[in-house]
Amino acid sequence: MNIDTPRPPLKIAVLISGGGSNLQALIDGCATGLIPGRIVLVVSNNPDAFGVERARRHQIPTRIIDHRLFDSRAAFDQVLARTLDESGAELICLAGFMRVLTSDFAHYYAKRLINIHPALLPAFPGLHVQRQAIDAGVRFSGATVHFVVPEVDAGPIIAQAVVPVLAHDTHDTLAARILRQEHRLYPLVVRWFAQDRVRVEDGRVRILDGEENGQHALINPMGEV
Ligand code: GRF
Repeated sequence: MNIDTPRPPLKIAVLISGGGSNLQALIDGCATGLIPGRIVLVVSNNPDAFGVERARRHQIPTRIIDHRLFDSRAAFDQVLARTLDESGAELICLAGFMRVLTSDFAHYYAKRLINIHPALLPAFPGLHVQRQAIDAGVRFSGATVHFVVPEVDAGPIIAQAVVPVLAHDTHDTLAARILRQEHRLYPLVVRWFAQDRVRVEDGRVRILDGEENGQHALINPMGEV
């Protein structure tokens, strides 16, 4: 389909575990029309996640699937997959979802399951990534949106945003600076999916050209410390 042809709004599911500020950015992106899509479901494994409240405020259907009630990751993932499939979601966005998914789940949703990570992958996968970045003395860090594959924080990179790491940075100041860029980056990437512009070729992502004129793969906000 030509990227200029009107398409039905993309059905999006968002998986969260916590505050949900990235969820909020996606909600806002849909509301403003930046994302030609609709969030059809928000799932949290954590009953107390504030992001659930954010979704309810916007009349978005929510489901709590508490991982502690399951004997195994596989059993949790099966219920999660059934819930997602029932929602009709076409794209699944992990947004601060703090559960490792099984490889069966990652394979089942290949090419339509994406994650945002607060570092410039492949540097600093895993947890406590701002601390990792500060301890390593890197001058730049940022955020990465990538396809989810069985290996944690791997998978083809779709887009990245860069921020400076400053001499006085603490975990919190760096995390806040990165988060501000996450809130720009994730809606932009989801917009590309809604426009059917994301392709994977030989394990690398290509974004079909649009209004960004080829400048779409990197946000470099040096001016926005
Ligand atoms: C973000 O930094 C995201 O990159 C990471 O977890 C954090 C979630 O924040 N995976 P929020 O819940 O979206 O506010």
